[in-house]
Order: sequence, then C-alpha cells, then structure tokens
Amino acid sequence: MGLTLAEKIIKEHLVTGDMKAGSEVGIRIDQTLTQDSTGTMAYLQFEAMGVDKVRTKRSVAYIDHNMLQSGPENADDHLYIQTVAKKHGIYFSKPGNGICHQVHLERFSVPGDTLLGSDSHTPTGGGMGMLAIGAGGLDVAVAMAGGEYNIPMPKIVNVELKGKLKSFTAAKDIILEVLKHFTVKGGVNKIFEYTGDGVAHLSVPERGTITNMGAELGATTSIFPSDERTLEFLKAQGREKDYRELKADEDAVYSEKLVIDLDTLEPNIALPHSPDAVVPVSTVRGKKLTQVAIGSCTNSSYVDLMKVASILDGKTVHEDVSLVVSPGSKQVLSMLAQNGALAKIIGAGARILESGCGPCIGMGQAPSNDGVSLRTFNRNFKGRCGTDSADVYLASPEVAAYSAVAGFIAGPEDFDMNVDLDIEMPKLFLVNDNMVVKPAEDGSSVEVKRGPNIKPFPKNTAMKDEVSGKALIKVMDDVTTDHIMPSNASLLPYRSNVPYLSEFCLTPLDKDFPRNAKENGGGFIVAGKNYGQGSSREHAALAPLYLGIKGVIAKSFARIHKANLINNGILPVTFKDEKDYDGVDKNDVLEINGLLENISTGTLTVQNVTKGTSFDVSVSLSEREAEIMAAGGLLNLMSMKNK
Ligand code: F3S
Repeated sequence: MGLTLAEKIIKEHLVTGDMKAGSEVGIRIDQTLTQDSTGTMAYLQFEAMGVDKVRTKRSVAYIDHNMLQSGPENADDHLYIQTVAKKHGIYFSKPGNGICHQVHLERFSVPGDTLLGSDSHTPTGGGMGMLAIGAGGLDVAVAMAGGEYNIPMPKIVNVELKGKLKSFTAAKDIILEVLKHFTVKGGVNKIFEYTGDGVAHLSVPERGTITNMGAELGATTSIFPSDERTLEFLKAQGREKDYRELKADEDAVYSEKLVIDLDTLEPNIALPHSPDAVVPVSTVRGKKLTQVAIGSCTNSSYVDLMKVASILDGKTVHEDVSLVVSPGSKQVLSMLAQNGALAKIIGAGARILESGCGPCIGMGQAPSNDGVSLRTFNRNFKGRCGTDSADVYLASPEVAAYSAVAGFIAGPEDFDMNVDLDIEMPKLFLVNDNMVVKPAEDGSSVEVKRGPNIKPFPKNTAMKDEVSGKALIKVMDDVTTDHIMPSNASLLPYRSNVPYLSEFCLTPLDKDFPRNAKENGGGFIVAGKNYGQGSSREHAALAPLYLGIKGVIAKSFARIHKANLINNGILPVTFKDEKDYDGVDKNDVLEINGLLENISTGTLTVQNVTKGTSFDVSVSLSEREAEIMAAGGLLNLMSMKNK
C-alpha cells in the first residue's frame, strides 16, 4: 500500500510509535520558529533545560506581533529574544523584517523538513512541502533541545484540485471553499494533503495561503507536494540547493476526499464572525464598508500585493473607506518600492503599515464602532479586531482591492476585466537578509539581556511519594484558561513575568486565591467538569506552578490543559466517583500517599485529613507522561536526559 506525502515525512522523522491513526507518534523536528508573543516564554523554557546550542537544523526567532513601543516592556522582550537567540544558535529576524510565516517561507523553509512553530499558523510552511505544525512554547523549546514532538497520528484527508483558477479567483477562494465544506471543527487530528492537476498552477506563496488557513479547520497541518513550482520559487530565492521533489505514492490511501473544480470556483467570502461562514461573494455584494485591510500571514505576498497595485492603479479609495496595507515582509515591501507598485498603492490613498502582523493581532487599526471591515486575514472572531461591535469579513486581496475603491463589498460584476491579474512570480526575488541576525559561532561569551520584566522561570521538583496541602479553591464546571490565567491588553506585556502574572491567577473566581496559595505554601485545586477548556495558554499551568499548586482534582479535564499540567509536573487526577466532589470543602487538608508506586496503576487514594474521610481518584497517564510527572515536569526530564 502506498504512502501519502505526510506519511512519508512522518516515517522519515519517526522516533517513537507505529503510525496507526490515533496512536501517539513522536517525530524528530528539523526546524523551529517562534514569534515574540510566545517566544519569550519558549526561550525561558529552553534556557531552563541547560542546553548550550539548539539541536535543530534551523531555528528562527521572529518579532512580528507586538512591535508597539509605548513602554519599555516590549522592547525589553525583543532584546531578550535577540540576545538569547545569538547565544544559543538561533537566527533572529528583527522587527520590520516581516511576518514569521511569510519570511520563513521565503528564506528558511525546506521541502521534506519538519517545522514546529509556537504560532498556530505555522502550517503555512506546508506550501513548501514541509510538515509544519503549530504547538505550545514548551513543545518548541523541547524540539530546540533535540526532543521529539508527540502527536496522535493524524488521519490524512485528500483535497484534489482540478483545473485552473480564473484570473479573478484566488488561492483564498480555495481555502474558503475547504472551510465551507469541513467547518472550523472538521480538521481536528487531520492533515489536509493537496493533489491534482490544479496544484501545478499554484505558486508556493499561493499554496502557503491555503495551508496557512488550514489552521482554521483545526487541522494538525496541511501540505502540498514539492514540484517544479517549488523549485522555481527556491531558485527565485537563491535557494535552489534546498529543493527536493516530493509527492504521494500513486496508490496512497486517504481517509476522506474533497474535489474542488477550480474552473468553476467563484470568489468566496467569510461572513462575521467565523472563518467557516463562507458564501459566494456575490451574495453579499453591495454591503457598505468602513475599512479594508490587506495583509497578514495569509495574503501579503509579492503577487498578492502586485495584484492589489494593478487594481488600484489610477483609482481612488472610496471616501468612506480606510484602506490599510501591511506587506508580509521586507522583501515584498522593497520589491514593491523598487518596481513602482508601492507608488500605485499609495497613490490610490492607501495607508502603508510596517511589515508585521499589525491589525491582524489587534495592534492598531481597530474599526469604528459598528464598523464593517473587509480583511484578507484568516480570522474574524468577534472582538479580535479590537472593536466588539464591528463586523469583519474575510476575502481575497482581489476582492478587497475592488471593494476598497467601490466602498462596498464588490462582486465579479464590479471587477474591471481589462485589468491584467495574471501576474507571474518574479524569476528573482530581491534577497537581502540584513535584518536577520546570525547566531554567534561560539555563544559562550554572549550576555543575555534581561530587562526588569524578564523574570526567572518557575520550575518544579521531582515528584515525591507523598503530597499534601489545603484545597485552596473549589471551582465549578467549565472553568476556562481565561479564568485560570486572564489575558488582556494590560497583562499581555508581562508574558515573561510569571511572578507578576500569578497575582491574577484564578482571580476572576476568587480574588484571594494567589495570596491564599502563597500563605499556605501551595496546595490543591478542586474542580468540576472540563477544567481548563479554551485556549492552549501555558501560563494557565505556569502561574499555578509558581504559586505552589501540587495537584488538580477535577471531575474531568480539557485535553490541552491536562497536557500543560503534566508538562509542568502538576498532578491531574479525576474523582472516581463524582459525588466525592461534594465531600471536599475549601481549606480541607488533603493528602495523597504512595504516588511513586501507584502513579501508573490508575488509582490513588486521597485522605481528607480535616474530615477524617478518604476517596479514590483516577490518574490516567501514558508511559511518557508518567515519566514526565516523576521528573517533576518536562523541563526537568529534558535536563536529566541532556546531562
Ligand atoms: Fe500574525 Fe495574524 Fe498571522 S497575528 S502570524 S498575521 S494570524
């Protein structure tokens, strides 16, 4: 039986597991990337592992998310990342060099490599034929230290592209079509693999648009073959040596299949407030707009913006619309400046932003109250743009540019068919890596600069046979990571300061929790069902660790939060009989004995010392997780293995 391309790359990188769908596989990671918002924590975690130099082939630290410098905190974080990168063998992409995924595609991606990035849109690299996966910062830190990355073996879905896009349809319309079909929940534990004769008509950046937004399916990743078009792109980047041909076997077996006919595909648009609320753009034609934003890691490549320049050439942006354009990289921006396209965009009345995430991450350009914004980005969740009452639509750069001029969402009947949008990718890109700082050959004398906001990282100790402490808080069902570790504009600059953040741990539910935890030298959290649902935020485990939390006894856990607790050596156990939840009160002293012996048996007994009672709890850990717990967390285990 033949293999899919994803299976081939996994097989090449397999460290543990047998590649049966659903069972855990551990894969070797060739490359990593971080961005500033997750990078500080990832590098603090990496430092805590005591590894001198990254063991990956290439690791790159990007600054693209939070480039505002209205106080010293962000600049301090950037300086920390720059110096820690230099010391430990990591390339550093300076603020202004571009969005991590765009720059990585241009300058670092290699077909057939594995890439782990601490950003959910890391799958953009799948456009280059890489197995590119988004993960938490600690997983990326472990990969930098040479550790494997573990995932449930995904199912492989085939998307067959037939024919050729019309000149006014775009790669964005393809991925919006896939989202319409599979929805934002339809990709969990799946890899989307693109095949068919239509693939040959898509350039690497166009493929990157599709694999980028595969993240909105909830997919593990998406991937294209590496072919003549890949070679063409690598040659144009002066990186021909990185090319290798890669494709699925003829008789590869997929778990599902979707066929998209590119000849008949129409421009699509995602309605507020979900990327899968996709309809043909013609159905919402005429909707008045207040803002159009072109850019983001989804749609800010050279060809994207050249099309925008062609559409805007000699036109004027509608008086009611603010058009903002953020080029994806310094390379794109300088090429547009050199060939005159930038002048056409500026001439039409667009506002040019620096190369970075900008409005996509809510750093500026929030629409007016009740504003209507059309964006080329990948997400349109309510409030993400910075204005709760605004409606955000998602479409291609072509639709966005025509709409900016029209003042309303433009349909195909508004397009000027005389504008030539068959823009070829250049034979040579303008390569200038002078905003990428190389790591030191020998980093031993490099001093890592830590501003006052960079605080030491909390670390657990090896598991003891007995743990005891008070039930410091008792919470209800469905507690989210937002409850555990709130994240808002005022707390974001403190992502490298766990001691400060911990002052806000669980305070939406009990404002005295941090003080209570500290006064009692830590203890337990008692919780209802689905504890830790929501975002994958690691700080929701790090802040409790800092406060001395030894275990969480819950009716059930959300999957990622449970993994984060284990990674930090905090014991996650569930009530065998949910009724026992009622028998524990806040401030009861609890004690668990025989941990070392029984951690793998599945059952532990909790003594309620205050009430003189006891109850059983389940501990469900894989062999790998039990090893992590025994070491007192993944960092300790990595340090032990690296000695
Ligand atoms: Fe940045 Fe938005 Fe992409 S925040 S990495 S441009 S999804």
